[in-house]
Amino acid sequence: MSPALVFLIGPRGSGKSSVAATLAELIGWRWIDADAELESRCGRSIREVFQTEGEDGFRQHEATVLAELCLRECVVIATGGGCVLREDNRQRLKQGFVVWLTADPLTLWRRISQDPLTAERRPALTGADGQAEVAELVRAREPLYRACADVVLDTSEHSPAEIARMIAARLPQSSTTGGVDPPSRSE
Ligand code: S3P
Repeated sequence: MSPALVFLIGPRGSGKSSVAATLAELIGWRWIDADAELESRCGRSIREVFQTEGEDGFRQHEATVLAELCLRECVVIATGGGCVLREDNRQRLKQGFVVWLTADPLTLWRRISQDPLTAERRPALTGADGQAEVAELVRAREPLYRACADVVLDTSEHSPAEIARMIAARLPQSSTTGGVDPPSRSE
């Protein structure tokens, strides 16, 4: 594992970007939102990428961005909710310390509905209506998140600052000192 990569994975609305920013400040690293990076490289919103290239095209861009972000150091990376779908991405996540953020479906739905970025960043992924889609995706992807995670944290009842402190306390010593000890997996 890289001494200096932390990946936040989890569904839409689980708080990945807010926690990434807070955690990075806490441990003195930089942070990157993989979705924002993708949009800046493509020069289009995620919604536009979906419209012109379909979900497959978007997933290819997502994998390319993740591969490039993995070359950096001392960085907290907020991934997109579907990052775990591809095997190559799941392999790449092993290069860092992986935190799976989760929340109950109603909380996820409430956060997604209230986020002004949703219109341009979160096109529909299934035929289900918004709230049903959230529950469906959580159910379908849970085994993938579980397979990748070093730590699992439920953000439903906690602020980003509280979650960031919990992650900082669980980071393997080697992450911030430059060593290469693997983390112990826990839930
Ligand atoms: C997606 C989640 C989004 C974004 C895209 C696809 C997904 O990221 O990557 O809309 O497949 O769940 P967030 O998890 O940051 O909303």
